[in-house]
Amino acid sequence: MSHASPTTPAPEQTVDQRVADLLGRMTLIEKIGQMNQLNSDGPAVLDQLRHPIQAGHVGSVLNEVDVVLVNELQRIAVEESRLGIPLLIGRDVIHGFNTVMPIPLGQAATWNPAIVREGARVAALEAASSGVNWTFAPMMDLTRDPRWGRIAEGFGEDAHLASEMAVAMVRGFQGNNLADAGSIAACAKHFAAYGAVESGRDYATTNISEYELRNYYLRPFKAAIDAGVSTLMASFSDVNGVPATGNEFLMRKVLREEWAFEGFVVSDWDSVRQLIIHGLSEDDRDAALAAVTAGVNMEMVGQSYIHHLPALVEEGLVAEAMIDELVASILRVKFQLGLFENAYTNPSDLPPAGNPQALDTVRQAALQSVVLLKNEGRLLPLSPDKLNSVALIGPLADAPYEQLGTWIFDGNAQWSVTPRRALEERLDGQVEVHYVRAMDTSRSRVSPTFDDAVRAASEADVAILFLGEESILSGEAHSRANIDLPGDQAELVRRIRATGRPVIAVIQAGRALTLTNIVDEVDALLFAWHPGTMGGPAIADLLLGVDSPSGKLPVTFPRMVGQIPIYYNQKNTGKPPSHDTIVHIDDIDPFAPQTSLGMTAFHLDAGYTPLFPFGFGLSYGEFHYDNMRVATPEVPLGESLRASVELTNRGAVAAEEVVQLYVRDLVGNVTRPIKELKGFRRVRLAPGETTVVEFVVHTDELAFYDRHMRRVTEPGKFHVWIGGDSDTQLRADFRVVDILTDDQKP
Ligand code: GLC
Repeated sequence: MSHASPTTPAPEQTVDQRVADLLGRMTLIEKIGQMNQLNSDGPAVLDQLRHPIQAGHVGSVLNEVDVVLVNELQRIAVEESRLGIPLLIGRDVIHGFNTVMPIPLGQAATWNPAIVREGARVAALEAASSGVNWTFAPMMDLTRDPRWGRIAEGFGEDAHLASEMAVAMVRGFQGNNLADAGSIAACAKHFAAYGAVESGRDYATTNISEYELRNYYLRPFKAAIDAGVSTLMASFSDVNGVPATGNEFLMRKVLREEWAFEGFVVSDWDSVRQLIIHGLSEDDRDAALAAVTAGVNMEMVGQSYIHHLPALVEEGLVAEAMIDELVASILRVKFQLGLFENAYTNPSDLPPAGNPQALDTVRQAALQSVVLLKNEGRLLPLSPDKLNSVALIGPLADAPYEQLGTWIFDGNAQWSVTPRRALEERLDGQVEVHYVRAMDTSRSRVSPTFDDAVRAASEADVAILFLGEESILSGEAHSRANIDLPGDQAELVRRIRATGRPVIAVIQAGRALTLTNIVDEVDALLFAWHPGTMGGPAIADLLLGVDSPSGKLPVTFPRMVGQIPIYYNQKNTGKPPSHDTIVHIDDIDPFAPQTSLGMTAFHLDAGYTPLFPFGFGLSYGEFHYDNMRVATPEVPLGESLRASVELTNRGAVAAEEVVQLYVRDLVGNVTRPIKELKGFRRVRLAPGETTVVEFVVHTDELAFYDRHMRRVTEPGKFHVWIGGDSDTQLRADFRVVDILTDDQKP
């Protein structure tokens, strides 16, 4: 075996051979050094980290994005440490670097994996030019609770949609080859089920059955791993009594034994030592033992590994073979990234940040992310030639930072084009634009500026309200117990409504909001999430009909916060509600017999339906679904369902529709959801155009973990629906049949 140095690849060596070769030359402390990730505290990073890097005690640095400093950190590692092992440079590149995409929840609303992949590519190129070679994204925590601040960062409530989005983002970040310039390692997070935190309070406890873990929360992670994601990040949360960072069931049984994951797991920020706070570990040493035994390869900033693992190995409590296994996965990613061939970044090798293609990508994504929730009397799109003046009102009409949303460490707000600027540019010389902010922040209370807003609306042909949440009200540790529009925004809507002028509301937010108190006060309602750098042009083009809204909700919108958790793929229960059993609390006769109000699963004061269902979104087109059919009423196990529908745009404008396919497994050895998304397709149709949309669903996609935790597709009767949202009633039936005779069965 040639002893090529790690930086001189022996031509015949594979990555695994190079890993083994290098590992065989490392001391124990150098191995544990690779498991240690330190934070850059800013400009003094060289003084802070020079010696630990020289000593081989650092495998990764996060939060340094000055490419000159990053190159110097890499030089110290490569030229001044004994073995010259380059560093992983990590950063939260969640939905863009300098050029910002819509928040991931908004990207999910595009139902377009292609644009999500393009957006991640843009982010990777910009991040890589700063020396970043590892992003802590995509976050794929499913959640059914919009109170949770981090709903903004994920892809909503559905495992199929989130899996498609996660895979697209992984491929965008990692490119076709991790060693290519502009490719960065991705990180599926937070493993696992962080989105199930009680009451939506961040970092809170999660109690989840193994059935729910496997059939729901784990699915996007499996999809990301099958797509080749390089790393995972452990969740902060306590999962059924064992915090994820110390959870062997998750990290070893599922991730390594069942899924054979070969990448590595990084803890979350100091989440190893948080095992002490959780009450799982006595002290740092105990926490390090718990996390390394569970299979967490790298510790983010807590330094319990570097301080305690050497002794734990010396004392025989941790086998060096375990360290070798965990370190090998880290080294493998470094070799795959090509860092041993070149650890340095030359920004001129990559396109400049904010280039026209980058801006167009994020504009396209924003355009496709906006969801039209209401359009009374087809008020939208506006025709400038029929307008003399418009009033733009509200705290988010001209808020370049806010529209970027949460988790934008490196976002360049100076590049933001706001809705106000975009509309003024487009209407310049044609229509007078009167802008009144009316509220300093989204939480402001009624003030005399409300009168200014009312006056502007009264004098305009139409009032466009730009409302919602500032970005600081969503994201990590920013959960809300009340998810109405903050402050006195609803009062502002009421006062503008009272002018009698047509009212359009454009909402920017990092979560589903309870809009019940304004939805009847506006004629048209657009939900734009936090749309990113080019949110303004996207919103303006939709308001003016340059394009039609095409977004669909990736998360259910409750009527009231008390309905949470409310989601489309619920179980039927033994007493399912139906429209005709719902009463309205105000109408109840106080002496009504106990059983007279409908003994089913609903709330007296909210019913059981959401304000807007998962998958919902209107269009300026007019889409009609006809002739839904299945190719055969029986589908043998191991073959595929073929279902199709004719889609026609009977509207007057070209538009895009996201056609969705849902199934229901009517009987299972565990109860199954009343609907499950199994396919979707974004289709553009000209006015009058008809197309046939066909879906192919393999019976393996109908599989689930049963009461014995076996992944099975059971023969039996299924419903299948196709439509424009999860409420679709366009249905056909089919049966999965087991054509194998008993003696043919394995
Ligand atoms: C944070 C987040 C995690 C992020 C990490 C580094 O606390 O939970 O998602 O990647 O720390 O910033």
